[in-house]
Amino acid sequence: MEKHFVYPPILEPNDVDATTDIASLRGKLYRTLWNSARRRTLLVLFAPTVVALGFINSYAVPYLTVNRERFGIYWVRYDWLYVHIIAGMVALLLGPLQLWLGLNRKAMLLHRILGVGYTLGVAVGSTAAFYLARHTDFGWVFRIGMTAMALAWVVSTGMALTAIGYHMVEQHREWMVRSYVLAFGFVTFRVFLQIVQVAGVGTTLEQMTAASWFSWAIPLLVTEWIIQARKIVAFRRQVLLPTPPAGTGNPRT
Ligand code: HEM
Repeated sequence: MEKHFVYPPILEPNDVDATTDIASLRGKLYRTLWNSARRRTLLVLFAPTVVALGFINSYAVPYLTVNRERFGIYWVRYDWLYVHIIAGMVALLLGPLQLWLGLNRKAMLLHRILGVGYTLGVAVGSTAAFYLARHTDFGWVFRIGMTAMALAWVVSTGMALTAIGYHMVEQHREWMVRSYVLAFGFVTFRVFLQIVQVAGVGTTLEQMTAASWFSWAIPLLVTEWIIQARKIVAFRRQVLLPTPPAGTGNPRT
């Protein structure tokens, strides 16, 4: 009886490399996507929401009362402060959800509806901020600092809306991130103040005045650094790295 040998498929060393390469690359890609999606959710949605809720609970909710004592120096303009706090809370809490929905391109109809809410929060919150800054007891440098912050909030949100009006999604994202960093100034202001108070640097007036500038200018600078650095890295990857020869099965990653 004739014997038939079934030969194993002939694999060149290169084929083995390519197979393992693709399998490991695929695994790496899935892991990266999964990790980046989880990291994004954590960084964009949960962390800011939890931090914002903590600060709102400690520094904003106590003003949601009609107790004159609680308002202290703000009693004479408690109505403006009340409106400012409610609108600020809306923007502060909608912001992370909006960024997360937008970055993941999820539930875009909901994203648009909540976008109206966020924009209203900024419009009302910043209008009241202009008034509060105009009538502050902490001097002219503080006044200009807070006015500049409110102006930056309006400009960044306005730019985000203008960009999306022209379907410029990337610019819309960038300006919305800047807008939210400014809304988050409510948190960074108080963190900055706590740090200088614990460090015992300067008088209360000096601490407040420094906070009115540093608490938003520095976060905005860091944000800009991240936005621009990511563009430089992406440019370097796409344009400067040589294109691999066709058919090498070694995609640029
Ligand atoms: C760009 C954003 C913002 C600007 C320019 C701004 C501006 C101001 C100004 C000028 C004051 C009065 C300060 C004074 O005279 O002592 C104030 C107070 C206050 N703002 Fe804002 N604000 C912003 C965002 C927010 C947000 C998002 C919240 C969230 C709830 C918020 C909550 C408060 C509270 C609770 C006070 C009372 C002062 C205190 O005890 O801390 N602000 N803000």
